[in-house]
Amino acid sequence: MSWWYRRVVRPLLFAQEAEAVHERTMRALAAASRNGVLLGAVNAFFNAESLPIELFGLKFPNPVGLAAGMDKYATAVPAWQALGFGFTELGGVTLQAQPGNERPRLFRAIAEEAIVNRMGFNNPGAAAFAAALADWRARGLWPQHPVGINLGKSKVTPLEEAPKDYAESFRLLRPYADFFVVNVSSPNTPGLRKLQDRAALEEILAAIGEVENPTATAKDVHHNESRPILVKVAPDLALEAIDEILELALARGVAGIVATNTTVARPETKDPDTQRVYSEAGGLSGRPLRQRSTEVIRHIYRQTLGRLPIVGVGGIFNADDAWEKITAGASLIQIYTALVYEGPSVTKSIVSGLLGRMKKAGLNKLSDAIGTGT
Ligand SMILES: Cc1cc2nc3c(=O)[nH]c(=O)nc-3n(C[C@H](O)[C@H](O)[C@H](O)COP(=O)(O)O)c2cc1C
Repeated sequence: MSWWYRRVVRPLLFAQEAEAVHERTMRALAAASRNGVLLGAVNAFFNAESLPIELFGLKFPNPVGLAAGMDKYATAVPAWQALGFGFTELGGVTLQAQPGNERPRLFRAIAEEAIVNRMGFNNPGAAAFAAALADWRARGLWPQHPVGINLGKSKVTPLEEAPKDYAESFRLLRPYADFFVVNVSSPNTPGLRKLQDRAALEEILAAIGEVENPTATAKDVHHNESRPILVKVAPDLALEAIDEILELALARGVAGIVATNTTVARPETKDPDTQRVYSEAGGLSGRPLRQRSTEVIRHIYRQTLGRLPIVGVGGIFNADDAWEKITAGASLIQIYTALVYEGPSVTKSIVSGLLGRMKKAGLNKLSDAIGTGT
């Protein structure tokens, strides 16, 4: 399947503008999501073997998740499980609906198997997003695996008012998802990454905490189960800055760290096509991000002595890359760019390769592999 995708399907897709392909793919997945027969067929082709892991009170059928940014409008929520994913991170969602940056804003660096994007949180806004999720639930099409939501800041909201913006999105979306990711690391909203500073992040986490644990009088009856809150970090932070986030995360009971978002760094290249793409403003994902993302994961695991679960993301294309992330300290992993370059069978093939790795290492449980390479 991967051969077929790479040799036949991919050249056809890559002959078209990147975001147009994304939109067409999402429309096809949205249609499949509403059609039991089609969804069953997708599932029969792509469903992954079982490789369960339990984390922050949630049961993941396998550790390979869909990274944030693919399903920004909650249009294909049931499809991701059928495509073999062990969990989904929807969004990024902001409180206000916003169109994102001007097009073109999505670029392929094909020789490097990379993407540069400056989407800028195009999304329908938290209220409409909540309505879309309510609709999937009402239709009985909600996936059986954990679903998280990536929260960003609305572009119009000044940085000082960010805590209110995140907390209000969280309040609206809280009933619909199993976990939340506070995204303060996208390079495409001006100033957003400043919110990784300790004081700013502390205020955001406090505002979300206020929604999560309201005063006794404000508590409603549906407010019983808590929602794990994770923080997503940029690969461009100095390790000292990451340490400050870790200290805060441990003190504030953050459930985990998603490492990493896209990078604003660009590797050296002599290839003119790649140079052209690399000169575009935005975040770089895919193969060139792999190594730095793994370094950050290894650092976080060592610094926290494995006490803070890590979702490893950045340049994972196959089981070797996934194993590298897990043995560096990741409990779960996510992919985005690999779907574009390897096609829809990549999830299944990563899970199957991980099972092979475990067998070779004589391990029965995935959790026994976490951090063994640090
Ligand atoms: C087009 C695009 C849009 C993205 N949007 C978001 C987003 O809204 N929120 C977020 O936290 N990360 C976003 N990401 C980053 C991915 O979730 C992921 O962290 C990054 O792409 C690295 O993983 P990869 O190398 O497997 O693609 C986006 C990435 C791409 C390529």
